[in-house]
Amino acid sequence: MMEEIPVIDLNKQYLSIRGELEGVLSRIFAKGSFILGEEVAAFEREFAEYCGVSHAVGVASGTEALQLALMACGIGKNDEVIVPAHTAVATVSAVEASGARPILVDIDPVRLTLDPALFSQAISPQTRAVIPVHLYGCSVNMDPVLQIAWEKNVLVVEDCSQAHGALYRNRKAGAWGDIAAFSFYPTKNLGAFGDGGAVVTSNRGLAEKVRLLRQYGWREHYVSSVRGMNSRLDELQAGVLRVKLKHLDKWNLRRRQLADLYFERLKKTDLILPAQPDESNHVFHQFVVRHPRRDALMRFLRGRGIHSLIHYPVPIHLQPAYADLGYVSGSLPNTEAASREVLSLPIYPELSEEKVHKICEAVFDFFG
Ligand SMILES: Cc1ncc(COP(=O)(O)O)c(C=O)c1O
Repeated sequence: MMEEIPVIDLNKQYLSIRGELEGVLSRIFAKGSFILGEEVAAFEREFAEYCGVSHAVGVASGTEALQLALMACGIGKNDEVIVPAHTAVATVSAVEASGARPILVDIDPVRLTLDPALFSQAISPQTRAVIPVHLYGCSVNMDPVLQIAWEKNVLVVEDCSQAHGALYRNRKAGAWGDIAAFSFYPTKNLGAFGDGGAVVTSNRGLAEKVRLLRQYGWREHYVSSVRGMNSRLDELQAGVLRVKLKHLDKWNLRRRQLADLYFERLKKTDLILPAQPDESNHVFHQFVVRHPRRDALMRFLRGRGIHSLIHYPVPIHLQPAYADLGYVSGSLPNTEAASREVLSLPIYPELSEEKVHKICEAVFDFFG
């Protein structure tokens, strides 16, 4: 029987840390405190330290982390937020949940992240923030983004959902902007056993606002000082994340080694391989290759038992729900080309070198 190669294997990761997890989870079960307790507080301290910022606030998902970050900045109705068009739909839905209007801009065709020049052109009197998305694990070219944002008085809200531990000029993703959002969706480089997210910032006032907003605006229980929502990280997820955070650097290093193997073996093919800018330390949440015959390659690999994914197959501005944003086919050409050509090959810390070789051999066979 043909051995399947999945895009991720969370069971293998679980088995590698099972003992540590069981200890933590049974301690939390026995304690009987499940919402915003000591585990969440400890995780917030540890994650802030990891990111090199002063504050982290645990929330219910990455989407809500973005929404709460925007709300804490006072962004809402009649405001515009600039977002790269090539991202998870969550980035755009979070902007709309805050009440603001998302303005989609095209991407740099090499890095596949926000094009700073197009960001600059998209700024209007209503623009309050920009969301650089550190897509696939590689940081956005932050210097020009920060420079433009500073000159034009635009807040920078980083979307770090795919970039836990990624560096830009030796500082972590999440430590560059005014405020940043992380997702702990199970498949992320740092993933919970369910939904989870965090807002990080070195601005104490913003952190306090997020803390209020995540629980009905309560400073004290049952008294709302501002209108808030329910977006809490729970104790079990915080306990899991505390265990996994200790392994994150080792896991990211392993992703890097597997990526190096892909680079070495695939460099002679026609595939366009991921950009590796000098100032960024890519953490390879995804290993994304590009080719005009992407769909045929994906089918060919599937025939060999190799799974792959497309991040993302339909640009947000061409999805039915977003037709009223006013973009047409051809309006964001780099994003549209990326959607037609990108393919995410399997990459996760527990993947063996042997399997990477197998995937590369299959790619060679496809190109003949
Ligand atoms: C770039 C990006 N932003 C935001 C999110 C939203 O995170 P969550 O699924 O935790 O709401 C994700 C995760 O899917 C993401 O990849």
